[in-house]
Amino acid sequence: MHRVIVIGHRGASGERPEHTLESYRLAIEEGADFVEPDLVMTKDGVLIARHEPEIGGTTNVAELPQFASRRRSQLIDGEQMDGWFTEDFTLAEIKSLRARERLPQIRPANVAYDDQFEVPTFEEILQLVAKENRDRRGTVGIYPETKHPEHFRQLALPQEGLVLQMLARHGYAEPGSRVFIQSFDPANLRMMRAMTRLPLVQLLEHELGDLNVIAEYADAIGISKPLATAEGVRAARAAGLAVHVWTFRAENKFLPAELRIGPSMSAHGKLEEEIDRYLARGIDGFFTDHPAIGVHTRDAWAQKNIDM
Ligand code: G3P
Ligand code: CA
Repeated sequence: MHRVIVIGHRGASGERPEHTLESYRLAIEEGADFVEPDLVMTKDGVLIARHEPEIGGTTNVAELPQFASRRRSQLIDGEQMDGWFTEDFTLAEIKSLRARERLPQIRPANVAYDDQFEVPTFEEILQLVAKENRDRRGTVGIYPETKHPEHFRQLALPQEGLVLQMLARHGYAEPGSRVFIQSFDPANLRMMRAMTRLPLVQLLEHELGDLNVIAEYADAIGISKPLATAEGVRAARAAGLAVHVWTFRAENKFLPAELRIGPSMSAHGKLEEEIDRYLARGIDGFFTDHPAIGVHTRDAWAQKNIDM
């Protein structure tokens, strides 16, 4: 039976503010097979880990008077965003900020870590993974996502070459490397396909689309839970694509009603049961904010199915 991979989504973002070195380190400690940084660009062309270019929601930037005048609105990939944007900040300025919990209502325990951690660069994350692998004799891999690549290309801050160069510099250059590169943007993936044989993952949220076309440039699909039906998984497999599913979160708010425990939306429900439902459909991997739960559920499932 193949081993399903557990991907630490934004690190162990259920337990630490997302996209901080401490979040990634905890994911590795909990046994994640891969850690997932989302990548955006600074004004001076450095890849850093944030879920979106706007950083008001995940840092203390809004409280810093020296940056008050940087606040603005802009349309990015069809969405109107208001706040502070990474492309208006140099890396030195980004490093003067501190990370904050994105979901303080749902994850109040994480708020205790607010303002303790920096926004990491992609390079710092690669260095962390290398160090943890050395120290633990591990093989944890890296699963970066290019965020809004067209937006950054228009700003003369293209991500594709930089991501690949950075990966190559840290030993991820051959097809067998412990890496997957993901994007929602097919053009971004096709561009990278022309530059690398590393595994590429087409992210999909609302529909599977033409899987045979996707298989021309990608090795896997990273799909939202509603798309990961047994039929959807089978169709992807038939097209030669591996299937990774996002995002598994332990809080009641993110679970189906029948798997919730108690009335509080921030309390943990039966995430293990939810993961089991998807493992039964034959998926190849899943993203979770709670890697410890993901790993023990995956291992228990494998044990059960060996015993059967
Ligand atoms: O990359 C997989 C999943 O993370 C996609 O959604 O919005 O959390 O980056 P998002
Ligand atoms: Ca992501």
